Amino acid sequence: MTEPERSPTALVIVGGSVAAIKSPGLLRRLREAGYVTDVIATRAALAFVTPLSLATAAGRVVATDETWFGARPDAQHLSLARAGVNVIVAASADLLARAAHGFAGDLASATLLSVTGPVLWVPAMNAAMWRHPAVQANVQMLKSWGHTFLGPEVGAFGTLGEGSGLGRMAEPEEIVAAVLGLVSPPLPTGDLTGLKVVVSAGPTREYLDPVRFISNPSSGKMGFAVAEAARDRGADVVLVSGPVNLPDPPGMRTVRIGTALELRSEVLDAAQDADIVVMTAAVADYRAADQAVEKQAKVAGDVQIHLTPNPDILAELGQHKGERVLIGFAMETHAGVERAASKATRKNADFILLNYPTQAGTAFGGDDNQVTLVRPGGESDAWPRMSKREVGERILDEALRIRAERAGVSPGLT
Ligand code: C5P
Repeated sequence: MTEPERSPTALVIVGGSVAAIKSPGLLRRLREAGYVTDVIATRAALAFVTPLSLATAAGRVVATDETWFGARPDAQHLSLARAGVNVIVAASADLLARAAHGFAGDLASATLLSVTGPVLWVPAMNAAMWRHPAVQANVQMLKSWGHTFLGPEVGAFGTLGEGSGLGRMAEPEEIVAAVLGLVSPPLPTGDLTGLKVVVSAGPTREYLDPVRFISNPSSGKMGFAVAEAARDRGADVVLVSGPVNLPDPPGMRTVRIGTALELRSEVLDAAQDADIVVMTAAVADYRAADQAVEKQAKVAGDVQIHLTPNPDILAELGQHKGERVLIGFAMETHAGVERAASKATRKNADFILLNYPTQAGTAFGGDDNQVTLVRPGGESDAWPRMSKREVGERILDEALRIRAERAGVSPGLT
């Protein structure tokens, strides 16, 4: 006798933010994707979305604190916690805090204490709240338990960088894509299976005082593309990213950092047992020698800022290279190959991808790149302009070739 095929189940917990209005749309899309859905609405969520609209979209009665404490004889939080995947949308700072600290005084929190399937948080809150260390500490705690986060994103409601407005919640279709990535991880196998790849991406921010920083326009797209290519070829990937407007890619561990010193500590930690390290991050060369604790008042006339060099992370990795393949990026506006070769030598990198930030079509933030591979000896190979993903694939091809060469076998036999 064959087991009847059961539909996958998804629990959607709706929190108290204006973005809760997107939750019926998410429920409908999850059902279209074949999920049987349950839905919990927190007390605050019901201020934004009605039980009827949620129930209609979910095809189920909505579970609330009232249904939990009502006349039901069974432990509703335990039955709801059996879903194959759990998604918290319009996730508020309050809901994050309760989950991170094991509260169980309401249905949503008690259910989250009992879930066994993967958990995806889709936060939506005021940018200043999101950036508060208390919220970020809670996010880190939940991530350390394997929970995944999608957004919040910079969007129509304001920008995350300004400390005001709302971080836009991800759209239902993006959430469904993330859910599919969580529950049916394709577990790709490929030529990087069994290898650990660490990628750094994006800019760093070097604060002068609590509200002002030195940075650069790096979008993070190149690093994210390398990390996604490595993931799809079976690698265990750690992506360490500065502040960029890109969601955590599914299927890898993403660590968000702000400053070069934070980047250094995360990359050095992740690189310990790595096989390939790709430093695409646009690390700020300098940081404030004395970061002011208070916002600095405007003064008449010129101001001098005392900067001190940041540690060179790639060079540090190069000093303790071991068996790792180390890859860097370099932006140059002149004498590119010569300068990149001398960087590769100085930093003990296997090769450096040289690009020109001023070149049309491949400048900061674009989807394409045109790079030249430069080796420490000065040998160079200009690749044609191609998508960042394709550049990522070719970088990984080259890293594998170097590994094979070191092992004394031809690629494909490793
Ligand atoms: O010396 P330059 O900044 O041009 O070198 C670029 C390469 O070195 C990039 O791969 C970058 O990620 C890395 N780098 C680093 N630490 C720094 C500066 C750059 O790892 N402080």
